[in-house]
This record gives sequence, C-alpha cells and structure tokens, in this order.
Amino acid sequence: MKKPPEHVAEEIEKLVRDLNEHCYRYHVLDAPVIPDEEYDRLFRRLKELEENFDYVLPDSPTQRVGAAPLDKFSKVRHAEPMLSLDNAFSDNEMREFERRLKRQLGSDDEIVYTVEPKYDGIAIELSYRNGMLGTASTRGDGYEGEDVTLNIRTIKAVPLKIEGENVPESIDIRGEIFMGIQEFEDLNIEREKQGEGPFANPRNAAAGSVRQLDSSITARRRLHLACYGLGAVSGIKFGSQWEFIEWLSRCRFPVPFGIRRVTGIEQVIESIRWIGEKRDSFSFEADGAVVKVNEFRLQQVLGVKTREPRWAIAYKFPARRSTTKVLDIHLSVGRLGTITPVASLEPVRIGGVTVSSSSLHNWDEIERLNIGIGDLVEVERAGDVIPHVTAVRRKGTGKKILPPEKCPVCGSHVEKDEGGVAYRCIGLNCPAQVRERIKHYASRAAMDITGLGEKNVELLHERGLVRHFEDIYKLKKEDLLDLPGFAEKSAWNLIDAIDRSRSTTMARFLYSLGIVHVGEYAARILARNFSDIKELYHVTPERVMEIKQMGEKTAESIANFFGDTENLQTLERLSELGVRIQNPDFDIEGRENLPLDGMTIVLTGRLPRPRKEVEELIERKGGHAASSVSGNTSYLVFGEDPGSKLEKARSLGVRTISYEELMHMLEADNRLF
Ligand code: IVH
Repeated sequence: MKKPPEHVAEEIEKLVRDLNEHCYRYHVLDAPVIPDEEYDRLFRRLKELEENFDYVLPDSPTQRVGAAPLDKFSKVRHAEPMLSLDNAFSDNEMREFERRLKRQLGSDDEIVYTVEPKYDGIAIELSYRNGMLGTASTRGDGYEGEDVTLNIRTIKAVPLKIEGENVPESIDIRGEIFMGIQEFEDLNIEREKQGEGPFANPRNAAAGSVRQLDSSITARRRLHLACYGLGAVSGIKFGSQWEFIEWLSRCRFPVPFGIRRVTGIEQVIESIRWIGEKRDSFSFEADGAVVKVNEFRLQQVLGVKTREPRWAIAYKFPARRSTTKVLDIHLSVGRLGTITPVASLEPVRIGGVTVSSSSLHNWDEIERLNIGIGDLVEVERAGDVIPHVTAVRRKGTGKKILPPEKCPVCGSHVEKDEGGVAYRCIGLNCPAQVRERIKHYASRAAMDITGLGEKNVELLHERGLVRHFEDIYKLKKEDLLDLPGFAEKSAWNLIDAIDRSRSTTMARFLYSLGIVHVGEYAARILARNFSDIKELYHVTPERVMEIKQMGEKTAESIANFFGDTENLQTLERLSELGVRIQNPDFDIEGRENLPLDGMTIVLTGRLPRPRKEVEELIERKGGHAASSVSGNTSYLVFGEDPGSKLEKARSLGVRTISYEELMHMLEADNRLF
C-alpha cells in the first residue's frame, strides 16, 4: 500500500476517525449526532478516495461490508477454553451458591459480585493483536470454534481497532452477539414475504446470521454485541471483572445493559429481581442473569470445575417455553386472502400468558416440523412476541394437514403465492377476507373504533349491515339495537366511537386501508412524505421509490392501490361520509412540521402511556428516542419514579422536562398527534 499525497492521506485518516466515531455513537451509545444521510455522504467520499488512491486503513468502515462467500469455516483454537455456566433457579439456590463460595474460600468475608443480564444469543471471542481485530470465532465445543471473522466484521458495534488508553499487546474479549426483539420480528416478517421459514427465536436468528458462509447476508442483519468476558491477555492487568468492564466501556466496547457491582448475596438477589422485572421492556431477549465473583484473585482461587467456573452462575428466569398438545389445525383466511394453518393448542401458561393457539405460517413450516393433530409440541415465546411452535416432541396419531384445494370459507379457487409456500383465496368477496379487512380497519392502531372487534364485525357482516368500510359510517343506533348483545348504552357507545374515528391522522388512515406491504411503519413514512391523501391518487411507483425507506414491492403495491378507480371511489365516499384526515406532519400550507426535528430525547421513569408509544411519537415528531443520556441529549423526559438517568442528565447539564411538558411542547404548535 503506497501512501497517497499528504493531504489525501490526512483526509482519509480523518474520515475513518470521524465515521468510526459516528458508528460508535449510533450503534453503541444509541445517540447519533448526525443524520444518516450525512453518514452516507462521508462514507461515499471515503470509498471514493480509497479507490482512487489505493489507500485503505485496516479499521476503515468500508472494510465491514461482506466479502466473497466461503465454502466452509476454518477452525480456531481458543487460547483459553470458553466455559459454560452452572444454573440456579431460585433465591435459595443463590444463597447456597454464596455458602459454597465462602466454604471454598475458607472465609466469611463479604463477597463483591457483578450482576448482568444473560443474553440469549451466540457467544463469540474477539482476538485483538496490537489493538487490531484479528480473528473472531464462535464458542464451538469450548476449545475450538469456527472462524467467523468476515461475518463479525460486518457488525457495526464490533470495534475493528481498540481505541483508548493502555492498548494491550494481545487480548481475547468474549461476548454475545444477539438480535433485538424488534429486529427479529421484522426479519421474520421479511422472511415470510420472501417465502422463507421464520426463525423460532432471536437466538436462532443471531446464530444463523453469524454462521453464514456469505458475509453479505450477515451484513444485512441488524446484530448487536455485549462484551462480558476476558480470555487470554498480555500487556495489561485487570484486578476485577468490574475494572475490566470499565476498561471495555472506555475502549468503546458495548457492555451488558444495566450491569451492577454489588456486595453480598442479598444485593445480588435484589439485582436479579430488577432484571427479571425489567426484562419485558428490554429491547433484547434475556433468559436469565449472570452473577460473577468480582475479584480476579478470588476467581483464581475458586478455579474451574470440568466445564464451568466455580466463581460464576446463571440465574435462569422461568422458561418462556413449554410443551402442549395440538388439539386441531384449522385454516384461517386473512384480509389479503392468504390461507394460514393455525394450531389450536391445549391452553398452557408461558411467561405469564395463556397460549391456546399458534400460527404455523405455511406448508413449508408444517413440513419442516412434520406436525399433525394430536402431536405433543414445544411452544416458545420470546419477549412479548407471539408464540411459535418450535418442535414436535412426540408424534400423535393425527392425520397430516394437506394444502387447501379451495378456500375453506368461500370455496373459491386458491392460488399459490409468488414465494410458492403460501396459498391465497382469490375470491374478491370472500366473507373471511371482508371481515378481516374491516377488523383491521377498526383496530386500535388503525381507525381505533372501540367496540368494533372480532365479535361485532362478524355479527354486522353476517347481518349484511357492514360489507365495506363506508358502511360503518352509515350505521344507526336503531340498527344496533336489533342485534343480540346490544342495549341502549352499548349501541350509543359504538356509534360514538365510530363518530370519533371520523377525525383521524393520515398515518392511521393509510394503515387502515390494508394496502399490501403497508404496515404502521410504511404508513407513517408515507404520511411524512405526502401532505394530503389526494397527492397519492394515481401516484407512480417511481415517485414512491424516491422515499429512501420504500422498497420496490411496497412502492408497486401503493401505486396499484391508488391506481384503482374503485379504491379511489371508496376514499371519496369515506370523505363524503365525514371522514376527515389530518396530517400533523405538515402545517396548513403543506410545509413539513416537525417540532422535535434533530433532537435526541431520552425517557426515564413510569409514563402514562406505554413507552414504545411515546418513543414512536417522538420519532414521528422528527426526534430521535435514545436509551442513554449523553452530552448530546436534547431533553430528558421524566415520568414517575425516574431512574438514575435524571441525575446523570442534571450532572451533564441536559435539560429535563416532565412527560406533561413534552406533551405541551408538542401541542403548543397546534399540531395533532
Ligand atoms: S459469562 C465463565 N455472561 O451463556 C463465564 N455468559 O451458559 C462464561 N451468556 O456461553 C460466560 N450472557 O454464551 C456470560 N452476561 C453473560 C452472558 C453469558 C449470555 C452465554 C454465553 C455462555 C453461556 C453460558
């Protein structure tokens, strides 16, 4: 590599430094300071210079993109074995763990521990030599793993170079690669669209992504890292786990969320409880908490059993997995005609909810599981995700479920979908499709018509009162009073809810229409880009594709929908019936209107609405909802019982406002949300 002219080399070096800094802020701190477009611009500039001058630094962000696919992975020996962990399932087992430690140490002195979430992902070892990432390997059998360096390099949170003080000559850092719950769900939706089977849980998704022979696939999956362990090291000394974690954090490695250092087992139990209570709100799946004796000197004394250290233990939370019996498999027809096999299950409690049915997605999945009625199956829930059947434990005698030859509801022809695994009813007036479309239209995230749920939609449809969206607005109280289950008050309530839904937002309305590939997110993006629904009439796919987040399929589907005269007539009729669409993203003149434009906002404490909803609101208003406070935070918004973030914000001089004040800020400009 020949060094280019001084000023070019300097520019390249500065670009690498700046881009890595932005990458760290975005992927580790979750607090970016520049918009994505600016990042992309700098990235393109760097790529251009590197190509023209043939000068590529080893930690250049351009070196993260996937490389040519491999035939197979080569093996890597771990300099120190990667151990596994002993498990505990109750507070008493934790107390027993401490008694054992004290016995082995021959001392009754208080023990200091670290407590952190146990990530449900795939363990890896990152080997750095003179500060540069050399190899990354999977755990394998603990002694020897697979070389997944090319894949791991594509993960943005993985430092390619150790930045910071005391860069050791050589260090092996262990951690977990995992996929967030949201990303896992998005990936599965995407896979289903492509006709691929879904991943059963975020762990399988992460493992599948890391063990890809084609690293360009890994590069497209949004994976995260949390570092928690030290392997072989030379050139630096750490006295304790905590000291090591602090060093990692200073060197820009992501460390376990909420990791704590506490004294004595009762404080450990308290911290585990905290993780257990909070884990449903984590963005990742935590299946337990890991407790480690903090002092490395004590770890040395305690040593290792065969495969597990004596100085650490994993507290496992109640499984979100259980076995139950398949009572039946029926076919359900969705609002787009897709015919989905659904298993009715013997009700079973998993992670606090009763599960009595689970979608089997498609016939590929039925084949893969080889599932039939009467089978004993394993069912799993990850986070607040819908349940999945992950495996058949014991075969029953039940028959095989074959793909439908005609629609189970209306008897129309069925068509095989593009992907080839889904079947679709082609009957335009299939009652199941109509009902599902109306249910979707009235649902909470759409037009939000309370009282127009499953049961009532079926009733109204069956009586011929509601066959199209517009029929909803023609309903009169007297119509309802004739129906079973309706009295004066409930009828009035429904009419009132319908009336209230007449005034809605552009994003909700677009979502309600049930356009193929337009979920809540795409609807929101559309609303941000078109101030009035009429601008979408006869829109071209090319125009929609100008929006960065819109893919070709979505654009075509949108153009199809708004190119159909019958659909446009429906929209006109809805407008005649008094449906008024406001677009809070734009002011009266159609100018974009985002009160939180460019602001980074962090939430803490209990809020009157679900946190996710408030975050969405912030994003919709042009802000960025981040999870940790830094000097770049614009506002810290606090609810009841705010956490330590409030103190941190104050100490950094970040402005703090209450949830009510945030709402005021958004209302002050006369913008609806
Ligand atoms: S410490 C000797 N910390 O759990 C210490 N492991 O059952 C071994 N894991 O293979 C690892 N989160 O894949 C540690 N915060 C955490 C962890 C964690 C997840 C996984 C890791 C390991 C397995 C052991």
